[in-house]
Amino acid sequence: NQQKVKNLIDLRVQAKLGGGEKRIASQHAKGKFTARERLEMLLDEGSFEELDMFVTHRCNNFGLEKEKYLGDGVVTGHGTIDGRTVYVFAQDFTVFGGSLSETMALKICKVMDMAMKMGCPMIGINDSGGARIQEGVTSLAGYAEIFQRNIMASGVIPQISAIFGPCAGGAVYSPALTDFVLMTEDNSYMFVTGPKVVKSVTGEDISTEDLGGADIHSRKSGVSHFKAENEEEGILLIRKLLSYLPSNNLEEAPLFENTDPIVRLDDKLNSIVPDNPNMPYDMKDIIHGIVDNDEFLEVHQHYARNIIVGFARFNGAPTGIVANQPNFLAGVLDCDASRKAARFVRFCDAFNIPVLTLVDVPGFLPGSGQEYAGIISHGAKLMFAYGEATVPKVTVTIRKSYGGAHDVMSCKQLRGDFNYAWPTAEIAVMGAAGAIEVLEGRSISKITDPEEKAAFVSEKVNEYKDKFANPYQAASYGYIDDIIEPRNTRFRVIRAFQALETKKVVNPPKKHNNIPL
Ligand code: COA
Repeated sequence: NQQKVKNLIDLRVQAKLGGGEKRIASQHAKGKFTARERLEMLLDEGSFEELDMFVTHRCNNFGLEKEKYLGDGVVTGHGTIDGRTVYVFAQDFTVFGGSLSETMALKICKVMDMAMKMGCPMIGINDSGGARIQEGVTSLAGYAEIFQRNIMASGVIPQISAIFGPCAGGAVYSPALTDFVLMTEDNSYMFVTGPKVVKSVTGEDISTEDLGGADIHSRKSGVSHFKAENEEEGILLIRKLLSYLPSNNLEEAPLFENTDPIVRLDDKLNSIVPDNPNMPYDMKDIIHGIVDNDEFLEVHQHYARNIIVGFARFNGAPTGIVANQPNFLAGVLDCDASRKAARFVRFCDAFNIPVLTLVDVPGFLPGSGQEYAGIISHGAKLMFAYGEATVPKVTVTIRKSYGGAHDVMSCKQLRGDFNYAWPTAEIAVMGAAGAIEVLEGRSISKITDPEEKAAFVSEKVNEYKDKFANPYQAASYGYIDDIIEPRNTRFRVIRAFQALETKKVVNPPKKHNNIPL
């Protein structure tokens, strides 16, 4: 029997070598960690329990029956992150390039099913040459089994995908179906078709990096929510992200002990908004000024920078923040910004994370480019997301809140619970100059003397500003619940969320809604 135990130990050692030492060395030479090293870094020390270490593929094509590796091309199991159980898989590039076999899919599906049953987050580390070519259609079926589980798990457990190597073809769709995708600056790329196929079909000459590297997906396509310099940083980011999330949709996100006084006043906020309404300022200064301990985890940091989304804590409670960024494109809402914020609001709503909205929006970006790209539908997504959300919602209007964009940005009538404004807020149908052009265009055109014309316009603009470039008209209707002193925003926001802790709103029963996708 001792021999049997020794055999087991030997087999375990063999399994842990994946595709062998040579391939491990080649993985390291590329600056990449192995699947097991990655899981070790990700999970609390000593917490990883591996499953299915003895699974091998069942393919007999192309002589593959002679080449089998214990565990096949993926390491699966569970462990803890900050003491909370998570289910994980990490594709092992040292075994057939981490390519997906039928049995690999079964292994991944098993942990996904367990994550769902136990209500725990699912984290997948991708590093794979795609479908295992020798297996043909069973590999494709395997992908679809994974996709179906991603879809069913959406909105039930948080799903996070790290891309630490290639992720091409059908393989991209599992990460795409998850809540957050993280890429690293080197060695990480995603595309539906690689550069060679692109060249043969369209003639376009493009590098792997330019087609689907971390920079492209973080900045241009928005496919990736986080860009890390390297794998270590990426893994720390995943751990941090998880600290803001509940384990499933029936739980609340973990409450942290708060060391930052809730009554901390931030005097610089009283003067942060410039006198000239066309001057920008950095909305992130406001965010950092009001959240606990200056900590803000930005999501989609490089994509659609005219809107900011991310997680912070107020009095220890995780909160999603959506904020227009006047420092980039004047904080205008365009297609990308609307999509970005809509997805974030829906994530928060699905996982019981309250949403704070900070508004400084001059409107929607005008022009044929945006209209042809479907700004109407994309803007509607954000409106839909806010309107359907039942989590506590607090809105603070910092400066501009114009037109349709005012409605979209979590206004009172889209079920904003507490809508506050700074005294610098301007809540109106449009800016003064534009409004006067529409209202007084005929009168202005009749004035021939330029000086007289300028004086007339200036008088009308001032009249309009006095009436509308402030929060008091909205407050007089109760659309703004209170006008608050900027330096006291932290306290007022915390108080508001405290008062909303017991909020219960249920949407009418339906199969599902029909958000304008
Ligand atoms: N099926 C089966 N084996 C695969 C594979 C796949 N889809 N992708 C990679 N492999 C194997 C390679 O044969 C190689 O095996 P070896 O170690 O026995 O020599 C090993 O994985 C490593 O691949 P290699 O090509 O040497 O690594 P690389 O880092 O130079 O390139 C890729 C990585 C992913 C770019 C390249 O392997 C590739 O293009 N794979 C095919 C991608 C594809 O089109 N997949 C189908 C899409 S659904």
